[in-house]
Amino acid sequence: MSSIPAQNQRVVSGMRPTGRLHLGHYHGVLKNWVELQHSYECLFFVADWHALTTHYEEPGVIADNVWDMVIDWLAAGVSPGAAKLFIQSRVPEHAELHLLLSMITPLGWLERVPTYKDQQERLKERDLATYGFLGYPLLQSADILIYKAGQVPVGEDQVAHVELTREVARRFNHLYGREPGFEEKAEAAIDKMGKKNAKMYRELRKSYQEQGDDQALDVARALLDSQQNISIGDRERLFGYLEGSGKIILPEPQALLTKASKMPGLDGQKMSKSYGNTIALREEPAEVEKKLRTMPTDPARVRRTDPGEPEKCPVWPLHQVYSDDDTKEWVQQGCRSAGIGCLECKGPVIEAVLAELKPIRERAQEYIDDPGAVRSVIAEGCEAARDIAEETLDEVKKAMGLAYR
Ligand code: TRP
Ligand code: SF4
Repeated sequence: MSSIPAQNQRVVSGMRPTGRLHLGHYHGVLKNWVELQHSYECLFFVADWHALTTHYEEPGVIADNVWDMVIDWLAAGVSPGAAKLFIQSRVPEHAELHLLLSMITPLGWLERVPTYKDQQERLKERDLATYGFLGYPLLQSADILIYKAGQVPVGEDQVAHVELTREVARRFNHLYGREPGFEEKAEAAIDKMGKKNAKMYRELRKSYQEQGDDQALDVARALLDSQQNISIGDRERLFGYLEGSGKIILPEPQALLTKASKMPGLDGQKMSKSYGNTIALREEPAEVEKKLRTMPTDPARVRRTDPGEPEKCPVWPLHQVYSDDDTKEWVQQGCRSAGIGCLECKGPVIEAVLAELKPIRERAQEYIDDPGAVRSVIAEGCEAARDIAEETLDEVKKAMGLAYR
C-alpha cells in the first residue's frame, strides 16, 4: 500500500479550450490523464475562465471549442467512469475561492510569476494588462485548492503556478489555521484515536520533528487518513500538529511533472498550433497522409540517389516515437546509403499515425452523433465536482469568519 494519504491522491488538471487538440496534446497530456485516471481520483476540467483571460475579445472561440475539446478527451480514452469531467465556469465555487484567496495574496507574488511577463511579451497583439490576467495563476490555485488536490499534472511551464498555489495554501493555513488552545486540542485529538494509534502518531511525529524523517511524516499522514473516528476538524489539527504549525485547512499540492512531450511536429520543431505543424486528433486520414507525404526531409537528398542523414530530417523524430528498433535500423541504413527513398521511409510512420488515430476518430464520431451523451457526462461531472467544492468552500468561509447566517 502506498504511504501517501488518500487526500494526496486526488488529481486535478485543466485545459484551456483555445483550439482543436492535436497529437502533441495526445502524447503530452491526454495519454498521461488516461493512465492517471486508473490510479487516482481524477478531476479534469475545461478551463473556460482561463481561456477568457487571454481571449476576452473573441469569446466565440471558447464556446466553439469547449464541446469539441470534451469530445477529444473522451475520444482519446479519458473515461467518465474513471474521472470526473466538468467545465470550470459551471462550478462557481472556483470563483468564490479565487475571490477569497485574492484577499491574502500579495500583489508581488502574482507579478513575479514568470508566465505573467513572458505571456505579455509573447502575445503582444493582445492587451493583457488586465486584472484578470494578473490573477490567472491565483484562479488556477483556486481550481486546485478547492479540491484539496494532492497532485497536479502539468507541463514545465505551469510548475510556477503550482508553486504559487503552495505558497498561497501555506499563507492561508498560517493565517486561519491558528486557534486558541491549538496544542491542547491537538493532544486531546490524539487520544481520541485510541491507545495504539496515539502512541504510533506521537512516535512518528517525534521522528519527523526531531530527525526530519520524511517517511515518518508520510506514514503518520496515512495513519490519520485511515482514522474513521475523528472529526474533520481534529484531522486537520493533527495534520497541522505533525509539522507543528496549526490546522492544515488547504493542503499543499505537488506538481506532477508531465515528461516533456517528445511529440515532434511536421517540421521537426515541437508540435504546436502556433508553428502550424500539427496533425489534429480528428484529422481526415487522407489529410493526415498528405501532410506526412509532403513534409520536408533532409535537404541533402535532392535526388533519390543522394544519401541523407536522419539526424537532419524531421521524419526521423517521428520514427523515434512510432517505430521499433528494426524499422529504425532500416531507416538509418537506408537513408545513409540511399537504399530507400523518402516516401518509402515515411511509410511506416504514416501507417502508425493512421492506426493511432483510427480508434480516436471512431470514438469521437460516436460522441459527435450523440451530443446528449456528452452533455450528460459533463452534467454529472459538474455535480460531483460541486459536491467536493462546496465542502471546501464551507470550511474556508468558516476559517475566514464568514460563517454567519
Ligand atoms: N493554466 C493551465 C494551462 O494553461 C490550465 C489550468 C487551469 C490548470 N487551471 C488548472 C492546470 C488547474 C492544472 C490545474 O495549461
Ligand atoms: Fe528523412 Fe527517411 Fe528521407 Fe532519410 S530517408 S531523409 S530519414 S525521410
